Amino acid sequence: MKKKLLSLALAAMMTLSLAACGGGGASSGAASASAGSASASSSTAASTGVKVGVSMPTQSLQRWNQDGTNMKAELEKAGYEVDLQYAGDNDIPTQVNQLENMITGGCKVLVVASIDGSALTEVLKGAKDANIPVIAYDRLIMNSDAVSYYATFDNYKVGQFQGNYIKDALDLDNQAGPFNIELVTGAPDDNNVNFFFGGAMDVLQPYIDSGKLVIPSGQTSKAQCATPNWSTEESQKRMENLITSNGYGPTATKLDAVLCSNDSTANGVTNALLGAGYTADNMPIITGQDCDKPSVKNMLAGTQSMSIFKDTRTLASQVVEMVDCILQGKEVPVNDTKTYDNGTGVIPSFLCDPVVCTKDNYKQLLIDSGYYTEADLA
Ligand code: BGC
Repeated sequence: MKKKLLSLALAAMMTLSLAACGGGGASSGAASASAGSASASSSTAASTGVKVGVSMPTQSLQRWNQDGTNMKAELEKAGYEVDLQYAGDNDIPTQVNQLENMITGGCKVLVVASIDGSALTEVLKGAKDANIPVIAYDRLIMNSDAVSYYATFDNYKVGQFQGNYIKDALDLDNQAGPFNIELVTGAPDDNNVNFFFGGAMDVLQPYIDSGKLVIPSGQTSKAQCATPNWSTEESQKRMENLITSNGYGPTATKLDAVLCSNDSTANGVTNALLGAGYTADNMPIITGQDCDKPSVKNMLAGTQSMSIFKDTRTLASQVVEMVDCILQGKEVPVNDTKTYDNGTGVIPSFLCDPVVCTKDNYKQLLIDSGYYTEADLA
């Protein structure tokens, strides 16, 4: 009861702090990373001619292109100059180089979606020395006290949604089972994986423990289930190996579900299963995340079961607001001050809401909201 009251009070405080940039609101506990004029009356006044560096990991995945485009458009609309860089195809030295250039090139704030969350400690010392606040974008940057804020989606919830989808689809509470499942997660150097995989396993573990869910490969650790760089080719290769070594097939050993932490890994799994003779009619349950176009098409075709919609427009707007508040010396809106410790302490965070997407609600989520046109998905 006490706990409940406390969390209600916390929730109320967080709601207050949402309205914080622009004055008032409860303290977020966030370190003030002021670097501009606190008296600027509008974001446009504070933003004119101010350069913001935006560092994205790769152009090979749809979501980061969208993130980059949205961020640039929103920041420019607010009057900022934008230095947007993609680090080749997840190339860490390129990302480090690009950040160095942003720091020496006069950027006043850095927004960084890291490739390897632990590889930026050194380069970001330069940002700290130059008093350039850093916002970790989508992925937490680890082991760096240069990080002022973190903006992302609720990554634990993403994992829980995926786990719950499997639980409900197999009706684990009522069916006798046992059901066969395999587990596929993402890049081990992406801190989000701990939350995606952790959230899903917190839902599934009791059923594994009771024997209702069986993992025939025995591959259950994060390391065993990881997919380097979230690569579709890598997840396809691993699934092909799992199919061979466990004898899965539409008329052979039954496979009921594959937990996939995102769409790029789900695509590899779908490819491997199609290659093994599965069709939309007998495809195991496959989860995903991002609502990338190929995955939405697979959902419509019946070869992926669900995805998670993370509206990158919302995240971009949130980050632009963070940038504005930082540069105006105002309180930065955050709604989580306890979850994301990057090794130097908890980073004040804003978590946007993820939503489950299936073929039943994609129209409302993706088409009606203007995220995609029907033609995008044809
Ligand atoms: C993001 C996911 C994305 C994955 C691969 C994660 O950090 O949160 O949305 O699918 O990286 O790029």
